[in-house]
Amino acid sequence: MAKPNAHYGDLKDSYLFYNIAQKTKRYLEEHPDKRLYRMGIGDVTLPLADAVIAALHEAVDDQADKARFRGYMPECGDAPLRSTIADYYRKRGVSLEDDEVFVSSGASDELGDILDLFDRSSKVLVMEPAYPAYVDANVMAGREIIHLPADETIGFLPAPSEAALADVLYICSPNNPTGATFNREQLKAWVDFANAHDSIILFDAAYEAFIEDDSIPHSIFEIEGARTCAIEICSLSKTAGFTGTRLGYTVIPKTLERCGMNFNAMWVRNRTTKTNGVSYILQKGGMAVFSEEGQRQIKANIEYYKNNARMLMRTLDELGIQYYGGKNAPYIWMKCPKGMGSWEFFDYLLNEIQVVGTPGEGFGKCGEGFIRFSTFGSAEDTEEAAKRMLSLLSE
Ligand code: MLT
Repeated sequence: MAKPNAHYGDLKDSYLFYNIAQKTKRYLEEHPDKRLYRMGIGDVTLPLADAVIAALHEAVDDQADKARFRGYMPECGDAPLRSTIADYYRKRGVSLEDDEVFVSSGASDELGDILDLFDRSSKVLVMEPAYPAYVDANVMAGREIIHLPADETIGFLPAPSEAALADVLYICSPNNPTGATFNREQLKAWVDFANAHDSIILFDAAYEAFIEDDSIPHSIFEIEGARTCAIEICSLSKTAGFTGTRLGYTVIPKTLERCGMNFNAMWVRNRTTKTNGVSYILQKGGMAVFSEEGQRQIKANIEYYKNNARMLMRTLDELGIQYYGGKNAPYIWMKCPKGMGSWEFFDYLLNEIQVVGTPGEGFGKCGEGFIRFSTFGSAEDTEEAAKRMLSLLSE
């Protein structure tokens, strides 16, 4: 008999964002005359940058031309793209070899797939509130998870301690959902802790492009010692609007080893077995993100989302409501007013003003009492949502 993976029974009924999608769908079925102002899932709304679109078109034409046609791509990424991404790091003073960069089909895929590198008995540390896939992917694999709660008193940024002893440590900075960012000293403490205990940090850098303050590291590899204890997973989803296009990259230093095994070599072995690489068309589009023109255009898009964030922050300031994030991250983590629970406040906003957020409790128990707003909507919708919140919450 084929036995199912019994750990699926340990998962919550459904994934957070799926749950919200179902709830909002039901609401619209029951209220066909209403429209929603969506600030739930962090899905971008601006089209891809012109430079990327031009490159994608060109790549399609290449595939129609016998001389330029490309078949299977190298499993770990096309050499020019790996080199371009390594250059992106070099410009920030992080020295990488091209083959320490792996092209991926996006950070969420990669955050799950990368777990193949770790023994099932590895203990995993998740600092919460956290992106829910960290927990769910490890529950599916039956790993022991240590939930490390972080609250306002520590700015949602826990420091290493006995309670954080684990084999695999997830760190997300800028953080989803709180928008909090670790500074150099704080990250250095985690790097030293990981090296001292032979742990490995999985550093989720999906939101690095939103950092405004120069003092905040964009990459864990800006920190001395990280090359012997960290893997970095990054994405073009939020940086360059690739949520529906799918492209990301992962950095695994060749110096990362445990028990005599090399993680870079293991990932090469994994990718060459489990994938045939990311499509040529997408990788060519990805190359354009890093061109001068591409960088200028994606920065303009990020600025657009930052304006949304500023608009919402002004409203919350006016209401005198406590919130975090919004500056170096595309998320605003707001305290629910009047002591409301996070799902209660979610329902209140949906029913009263048709604004959709993400309940903080979905990011871990300690997220209860908060709601997260994504700033990736259109400026018009964000403005309307802000107006509606102002009128509802100042009542
Ligand atoms: C989020 O809203 O947290 C993200 O958009 C989800 C994701 O990146 O998969």
